Amino acid sequence: MPLAPDHPTHEVSVRPATLADLDALVTLEHEAFRTDRMSRRSFRGFLTSPNAAMIVADLNGKLAGYALVLFRTGSALARLYSIAASPHAGRRGIGATLLQAAEAAAIKRGAATMRLEVHEKNAAAISRYRKSGYREFGRHHEYYGDKGHALRFEKRLVPDLARLKDAPPYFHQVHVRAGLHDDGAGLGRSVIPADAGVRIQAVA
Ligand SMILES: CC(C)(COP(=O)(O)OP(=O)(O)OC[C@H]1O[C@@H](n2cnc3c(N)ncnc32)[C@H](O)[C@@H]1OP(=O)(O)O)[C@@H](O)C(=O)NCCC(=O)NCCS
Repeated sequence: MPLAPDHPTHEVSVRPATLADLDALVTLEHEAFRTDRMSRRSFRGFLTSPNAAMIVADLNGKLAGYALVLFRTGSALARLYSIAASPHAGRRGIGATLLQAAEAAAIKRGAATMRLEVHEKNAAAISRYRKSGYREFGRHHEYYGDKGHALRFEKRLVPDLARLKDAPPYFHQVHVRAGLHDDGAGLGRSVIPADAGVRIQAVA
């Protein structure tokens, strides 16, 4: 799936991670984070968990980033638990591409909103998230090991049809033509036609 939202490049591709990526993921984690690193054991657990989606980015055939999304049964919220791009390949669209793939994975699993936390001093990540459409909605006080606060960001992944019911008719037309429509089960529940390959349920 070659994607490059705001950094055009044709070298980045994304795919689901497998256990064969474990060594490369641990190496990348050490390169990208100085503290609060995920252990090899955690990576292995997430790679085999039914409640996690681990997506990796390859740059010129070499693993150069990952995004980890967590899900909870019955929840329309997905959580971007971690994301990292290789420091050797920063600012080449890997972060943006991984975010887009993480969001697609979340939509496929029925999530309506993606949430994440980021250290208040992580200017690079905060800038990336804002550019990708995330908005700050709260904070966790002294969330990190260094007592730094976490900024909480979220992004709505699918239109909130309940809120849109009073919107001008053109809005509905645009979304119906784009493949999103009310399936008759009530506002807030919507489906993309099966032939689109993605199904969204219980998005309210
Ligand atoms: C956050 C991160 C994933 C971004 O990945 P990336 O591949 O460099 O990002 P992209 O190329 O898609 O986007 C580039 C944009 O991100 C932001 N950005 C990335 N690196 C930056 C830096 N060193 N300084 C400032 N902004 C930066 C900017 O908005 C930049 O746009 P610009 O180049 O036009 O200024 C990467 O910096 C990273 O892995 N950081 C270390 C791990 C981490 O902090 N993860 C987030 C935990 S919450």
